[in-house]
Amino acid sequence: MVSYKDLGLVNTREMFEKAMAGKYAIPAFNFNNMEQMQAIVQACVETSSPVILQVSSGARKYANQTILRYMAQGAVEYAKELGKNIPIALHLDHGDTFELCKSCIEMGFSSVMIDGSHLPYEENVALTRKVVEYAHQFDVTVEGELGVLAGVEDEVSAEHHTYTQPDQVIDFVTKTGVDSLAISIGTSHGANKFRPEQCTRNADGVLVPPPLRFDILEEIEKRIPGFPIVLHGSSSVPQKYVEIINKYGGALKDAIGIPEDQLRKAATSAVCKINIDSDGRLAMTAAVREILSTKPAEFDPRKYLGPARDWLKELYKHKCENVLGSAGKA
Ligand code: G3H
Ligand code: 13P
Ligand code: ZN
Repeated sequence: MVSYKDLGLVNTREMFEKAMAGKYAIPAFNFNNMEQMQAIVQACVETSSPVILQVSSGARKYANQTILRYMAQGAVEYAKELGKNIPIALHLDHGDTFELCKSCIEMGFSSVMIDGSHLPYEENVALTRKVVEYAHQFDVTVEGELGVLAGVEDEVSAEHHTYTQPDQVIDFVTKTGVDSLAISIGTSHGANKFRPEQCTRNADGVLVPPPLRFDILEEIEKRIPGFPIVLHGSSSVPQKYVEIINKYGGALKDAIGIPEDQLRKAATSAVCKINIDSDGRLAMTAAVREILSTKPAEFDPRKYLGPARDWLKELYKHKCENVLGSAGKA
């Protein structure tokens, strides 16, 4: 058993208390490799932002769980070396079983998500409660989820959103004891969050998707005032990356994300954690495609992964400064 406290990591409790009071959201960035981790740490140190490093079960399979744990420990030391001891949490994204959550807690994770959102309500409550009882013994914080996001979530795909029912939230947080709650108000995972026919065009001809269901968020906030809310599926799918990818041989079609002003608004509410993965994938892919196309003789991975890391860093800094409002809050 390794305690996250010995690795220099923190859980999300104090992060969320401060985010709630200060009306901003903590960035939760997924990582699978060294360049992503370095870019996240560089960006959050440079903007002085707290950060949640997220690891999915897919990331654990890809990179090896032990390596990821040491990389998170490395992230803490790297931040100090860069000159700022920012708060860093290591969080399991979309944990689907008690055993996976337990294993992460034993490896030094400071926070876990147990995603029982696809289960019948009572089963979601029971599974989430079991994880909370285990995690809290070690002061590890737990995120639960109510409502289902459209798209592919946790290897289960849903064609339509099942929005979170505000009438269920008091019962769920009371019975489970979770520290934060992920909700469904119109976001979804991946780079194709809306079909073009669901969108309108603004004066500049840019597609504008339907707004998030802030009415549902407000109802939830009324039921559980001051309780930390999490938004998954919150990439904005910047069109500059989509254009570069497609210009250099990619084939991304109808890639549409959540407009940044919607996320900015959410960050000032009870939403304390905003999950972003796809935008990082797009930035990295755009950089690699452009470099390999414009410099076809290049074969040193450092020459394309290095710039990809720089593009990622700029993206993450922009999120902290202009979207989540977490810059300067470390
Ligand atoms: O919510 C899903 C995250 O973007 C992680 O994706 O399971 O492909 O690592 P992944
Ligand atoms: P995106 O696919 O919108 O980046 O969402 C990521 C996420 O919710 C990770 O849990
Ligand atoms: Zn998610």
